[in-house]
Amino acid sequence: MRPPGRVVFVVWTLCSAAAATAIEPISTSIAVGMAAALTGFLATYQNVLYYFHECCREEWISLNGSGLEADLEKKLFGQHVASKVILKAVTGFMENKNPKKPLVLSLHGWTGTGKNFISHLIAKNIYRNGMKSSFVHQFVATNHFPHPGEVQTYKAQLQQWIRGNVTSCPRSMFIFDEMDKMHPGLIDSIKPFLDYYEHLDGVSYHQAIFIFLSNAGGGKINEVALRFWDEGKERTDIQLKDLEISLSLDVFNNKNSGFWHTSLIDKNLVDFFIPLLPLEHKHVRMCVLAEMKERDLKPDETIANEIANEINYFPKEKEIFSVKGCKTIGGKLSYYT
Ligand SMILES: *[C@@H]1O[C@H](CO)[C@@H](O)[C@H](O)[C@H]1NC(C)=O
Ligand SMILES: *[C@@H]1O[C@H](CO)[C@@H](O)[C@H](O)[C@H]1NC(C)=O
Repeated sequence: MRPPGRVVFVVWTLCSAAAATAIEPISTSIAVGMAAALTGFLATYQNVLYYFHECCREEWISLNGSGLEADLEKKLFGQHVASKVILKAVTGFMENKNPKKPLVLSLHGWTGTGKNFISHLIAKNIYRNGMKSSFVHQFVATNHFPHPGEVQTYKAQLQQWIRGNVTSCPRSMFIFDEMDKMHPGLIDSIKPFLDYYEHLDGVSYHQAIFIFLSNAGGGKINEVALRFWDEGKERTDIQLKDLEISLSLDVFNNKNSGFWHTSLIDKNLVDFFIPLLPLEHKHVRMCVLAEMKERDLKPDETIANEIANEINYFPKEKEIFSVKGCKTIGGKLSYYT
């Protein structure tokens, strides 16, 4: 048997060979030389090797369409509009051998409605390592870009990161959380990457995926959901078109939504604005049950009901929608079990 350290080294060389071609001729020739010398070995042990070290290859990155569909159906609650759009958008993009631009999704909704969760489900069903993949990058505005005075530095840094990561793996995913707290100039700086350009300085971004998460527009979405409820209509009759236009206008015109009033919207660089509806009592209950299952607990309807009863709902006089969606149920469940 060969020592495992050596195997990992060989795989590293192999993974880097593809990436290096775009960067630097010298390291390329070295890598290619090494790879060539090892071809016999690699051919035999290829499948075993890929298993050990994540590579920017189909073995590690490919869409599990049925997995995504099942996850959206069974793990995400009360979001029929978002589920449908996401599945269609992601499947369509991943199956397209020659996309003309990267996939750009913008998810909007109140706290706890599932924005982060959805981005994790997408990552999980494309990257074998899910959110832990070295090809999935998450930026949280208040964490990565906290100081307004440093926007110029952040801009340069962000552009460099995106360019660097897409250069080493075209199928990279970038998640921007708390878009509403992000300096607008910052997001404008990544605009060229989202556009239809064939190449930018020799790099093509057409295989990349950008996901923006934001509370902006949440109020508008809640208004629509409440209107349906007031008119006695089914929640499931709400369609994307009921929300999409007012959503993008609202986000665009609202200066405090921070990120937009940028050229991303007027140039149609966002492929889909995806609204997340406020959650009702029954959805919170489903979240609790799902969380129990996740923790290997026996699903308990009584506890689920109690937890759902305990949290706050709005509007005050009707108490229909959970103020924090499913956000705090994890902690409450720990208290009960
Ligand atoms: C796709 O996802 C489903 C459900 O999560 C899983 O059972 C199946 O093994 C996955 N398929 C592949 C090829 O990973
Ligand atoms: C890729 O992005 C990460 C941030 O997620 C950054 O730390 C890293 O330097 C980037 N890689 C390259 C090659 O630019």
